[in-house]
Amino acid sequence: MDFAGAHILSVDQFERGDIERLFRTADRMEPYAQRKRLTRVLEGAILANMFFEPSTRTRISFGSAFNLLGGEVRETVGAESSALVKGESLRDTARVLSGYSDVICMRHPEAGSVAEFAAASRVPVINGGDGPNEHPSQALLDLYTIERELRSRGRGLDGLRIAMIGDLKYGRTVHSLGRLLALYRDVSVVLVSPPELAMPEEHVERLRAAGHRVVVSDRLEESIAHVDIVYSTRIQEERFPDRAEADRYRGRFRLNAEIYTRHCEPNTVIMHPLPRDARGGELDCDLDDHPNLAIFRQTDNGLIIRMALFALILDVAHLVDRYARDVHWLNTRNRRPRGNAGG
Ligand code: NCD
Repeated sequence: MDFAGAHILSVDQFERGDIERLFRTADRMEPYAQRKRLTRVLEGAILANMFFEPSTRTRISFGSAFNLLGGEVRETVGAESSALVKGESLRDTARVLSGYSDVICMRHPEAGSVAEFAAASRVPVINGGDGPNEHPSQALLDLYTIERELRSRGRGLDGLRIAMIGDLKYGRTVHSLGRLLALYRDVSVVLVSPPELAMPEEHVERLRAAGHRVVVSDRLEESIAHVDIVYSTRIQEERFPDRAEADRYRGRFRLNAEIYTRHCEPNTVIMHPLPRDARGGELDCDLDDHPNLAIFRQTDNGLIIRMALFALILDVAHLVDRYARDVHWLNTRNRRPRGNAGG
């Protein structure tokens, strides 16, 4: 695909070569994300961050990624603070915002809404999650994390064995990640969920059509025994009619240090798109110091993947280093703050 000027609405847009190009661009963003260097390549550009559903990671990391490339960010949080509550159509909002900005990130509770918005936008739009449908930037950062974790174990993405666990019906991150995995070879996927929250058939079909082995299960222990990646997700309570309904499923699959140690191979990587649901306990804090827990490497990778997306969409990826310079405060950035408890 041609990234320059493209909307990013679904992972279906990508071929394997596009993913490779994005990931190698992301590698080059790392020193900037880690504040070892500074670039102003997007100076003067404006990102409109439109989040009509709760978000911490996705919204802040899109904003920070744009700032780290030298651009400015304007944002709306919650539908109640936008003119959508006055009855404005997504079409009109898109026309207006594309006059104010150079790229737009949008999250919205309805499937297909971001594509509808993008159709009326004159600037590129990135889907930050459209209801239960897709979350392409999360799937890209998840796949990038898997690639990096496996590379450090001398492996590649082909031949991957992964268990996806939890609310596979409403979880948009697993929908997008599953579709991306169809691009690779010889993948084994175990889908672990209550039967009522199973992965929608179209995503399962996509994996099978790619020749992958797909096993559907509702038993945690045996499903995580022979996989490279355990990808846990929370029950998506906001998609249920009420809390009581979500409570029926919460806590059904709890991964903790004891279960991990007893059932997983010693190299198995633990992932979760976050947020973890403390009430559901799907990923226990007693694994927090485990070296195979990659959840905070995922969030760090989210920043560099989003920088790479912006750099490619705004066609400046080849110029990032040319607009780089040194600044003094960066020297203090990686020091531990003084005065923390315990010195
Ligand atoms: C996910 C989302 O919003 O779909 N979070 C995220 O973007 N990292 C997963 C979730 O909310 O469970």
